[in-house]
Amino acid sequence: MPNLVAVIMAAGKGTRMKSKLPKVMHSLAGKPLIEHVLDAVTQVGIKRPLVIVGHGREIIEDSIFGRAEMVVQTEQLGTGHAVMQALPYLEDAQTVLVLSGDQPLLSSETLHALINLHQAQGVSATVLTSYMEQPFGYGRVIKNGDDLVRIVEEKDATPDERQIREINTGTYCFKGSALKDALTKITPQNAQGEYYLTEVFDVFLNLGEKMLTYCTMDSHEALGVNSRGQLAEAEAIFRERILEHWMNEGVTLVDPSSTFIDADVELARDVTILPFTRLMGKTRIEEDAVIGPQTSLENCTVGCGSEVIYTVAKDAAIGERCHIGPFTYLRPGTRLESDVKVGDFVEIKNSLIETGAKVPHLSYIGDTHVGKSANIGAGTITCNYDGVNKYPTKIGDYAFIGSNTNLVAPLEVGDYAVTGAGSTITKNVPAEALAVERSQQVIKAHWHKRKDEIGG
Ligand code: UD1
Ligand code: CA
Repeated sequence: MPNLVAVIMAAGKGTRMKSKLPKVMHSLAGKPLIEHVLDAVTQVGIKRPLVIVGHGREIIEDSIFGRAEMVVQTEQLGTGHAVMQALPYLEDAQTVLVLSGDQPLLSSETLHALINLHQAQGVSATVLTSYMEQPFGYGRVIKNGDDLVRIVEEKDATPDERQIREINTGTYCFKGSALKDALTKITPQNAQGEYYLTEVFDVFLNLGEKMLTYCTMDSHEALGVNSRGQLAEAEAIFRERILEHWMNEGVTLVDPSSTFIDADVELARDVTILPFTRLMGKTRIEEDAVIGPQTSLENCTVGCGSEVIYTVAKDAAIGERCHIGPFTYLRPGTRLESDVKVGDFVEIKNSLIETGAKVPHLSYIGDTHVGKSANIGAGTITCNYDGVNKYPTKIGDYAFIGSNTNLVAPLEVGDYAVTGAGSTITKNVPAEALAVERSQQVIKAHWHKRKDEIGG
């Protein structure tokens, strides 16, 4: 939108969170609160909002670097003081959208409606309000008919004012010139000794400037996260929104109540998610894949038609028509091509498993390249670490690794090569060869006299 600028306040400590992390960096559906606010702001067409940072600013800057312009508020003297820091960046003719970094459920649709109303009416200020069953802690909106009179904070409110259920969401539109002027006139004379941004409405009232409210019907949007309880509340609401969204997009969630899907996860239609499953980060699942039960995937991709059961995976790519699990652990850098089978009690790390290869049972595969259609026998271990360094293993196409083989890296096993069960292989195995490393079996007849002793 032209001539529109956003200021997001995020300098406060979030004392009520009792945390070493700045409040806006607490995670909701897999990403920090502030990023949810940035998403909504970006969606209304504001490219580089100003973010007021103070407490834990390095952590915030690292997270949103490139998406916003940082303005430092060295001392946190209140929300009014926070916006004052942005004054040098604001122009008279601009519409200034002010938001809090702790209001993650706000939608871009609501922001659009607020901005449109504000600009169409040409007023000095428009406040986004909402009705709350339990308005405790929020600023209350005092009106005369439809006109806004003022906003009073919980701590400054009279018992009568506390009964009011229309609250200030902490999101506003201002005419740049009016905001700049009013901010020079506010004082910290209130219960908290802070420069309240909400005091600019008193200034506007005195000047006879016109102010409006825009009420969002969805009170969830107004939820400000100040405590761990409110964080959990926001998480529950957001989670429900995500689950509903994916069901509307053609995803089957067998048990939504035990399904957790992060905000940035992408699911294709006809994906099925079975109970007790958690999809995190930037995970993407393609059509007809079946995930779960009891599976946790973080930043993973899963190809069409794959099945992933009782699995934990992170930073792993699973191709098409793979069968993973039960009880598989895929660690970062795992890349499975199509039609791969990885079975129970198998751990794979930083390895490429080509099309059609199988690692069905009880194996550790690390820093390894497994060729196409190779079969890795039960209990195979790649010994990739000598206590100091890690070394690679290469297993050729159609190779057959016997059960309980130790492959001591660095090592290459050629195409079509075979290793005997129970071997510890330390030298490269040429293509098509058999490598066996174990002592001859000795048979001593009648070693135990058990049959005579026990009888039978
Ligand atoms: C504020 C509003 C209240 C509203 C509520 C909605 C004021 C005085 N009150 O109260 O009317 O109902 O939001 O959630 O504005 N911040 C700074 N610098 C500061 C102080 C705060 O950047 O010096 C930031 C915080 O990091 C936070 C946001 O401003 O992201 C809001 O501050 P917070 O202390 O949470 O305000 P509330 O008490 O919730
Ligand atoms: Ca707040």
